[in-house]
Amino acid sequence: MPDLKSALSSFCTGVAVVTARGSDGHPVGMAVQSFSSVSLDPPLVCFCPARTSTTWPRIRAAGAFAVNILAEDQRELCRRFAVTGGDKFAGVPWRAGGNGAPLLDGVLATVECALEGVLDGGDHVIALGRVTGLTAHRPAEPPLLYFRRAYGRLPSSSMSESMAAARSRSEA
Ligand SMILES: Cc1cc2nc3c(=O)[nH]c(=O)nc-3n(C[C@H](O)[C@H](O)[C@H](O)COP(=O)(O)O)c2cc1C
Repeated sequence: MPDLKSALSSFCTGVAVVTARGSDGHPVGMAVQSFSSVSLDPPLVCFCPARTSTTWPRIRAAGAFAVNILAEDQRELCRRFAVTGGDKFAGVPWRAGGNGAPLLDGVLATVECALEGVLDGGDHVIALGRVTGLTAHRPAEPPLLYFRRAYGRLPSSSMSESMAAARSRSEA
């Protein structure tokens, strides 16, 4: 029988960088694959930071954050935000969103949130966010994927299908 980590790695996800403005004014951020939509009405999303994360307490203290959904060409950016310590934002272009959290250049979309609640999640916590702002920057670009502990991308054929479906939805 495979172990839990290995079984769960079969669930393919996108990747996001959750950012906030620390109390000292410095931007903070961490890569997550645990981002998920929760509710449309009210608009709620969640992500699950590990209790060992050094960035999470700073996001929690800020009370507001942004979810930056990464594009396929942003693997290096993801790697940079998946390590502890160092200046993760050195040389990374960003601007402040309406809630003050950093919105990273070149991402597919950003979801700005107010921290609505924090639930127990074992060795992680479940951070619930109420959506306060949305931006779609590169709706036609493919997302960065994470599957079996490796980065991946959608085959271009399936990307064309999803773009065609998006076009027909917008024309309907
Ligand atoms: C693709 C990918 C997905 C990740 N998803 C999560 C996640 O959902 N929750 C989490 O706590 N850490 C996740 N991590 C690890 C964190 O990014 C990393 O532990 C964190 O940035 C460490 O820095 P910190 O101590 O500044 O929090 C992920 C890493 C990668 C590469």
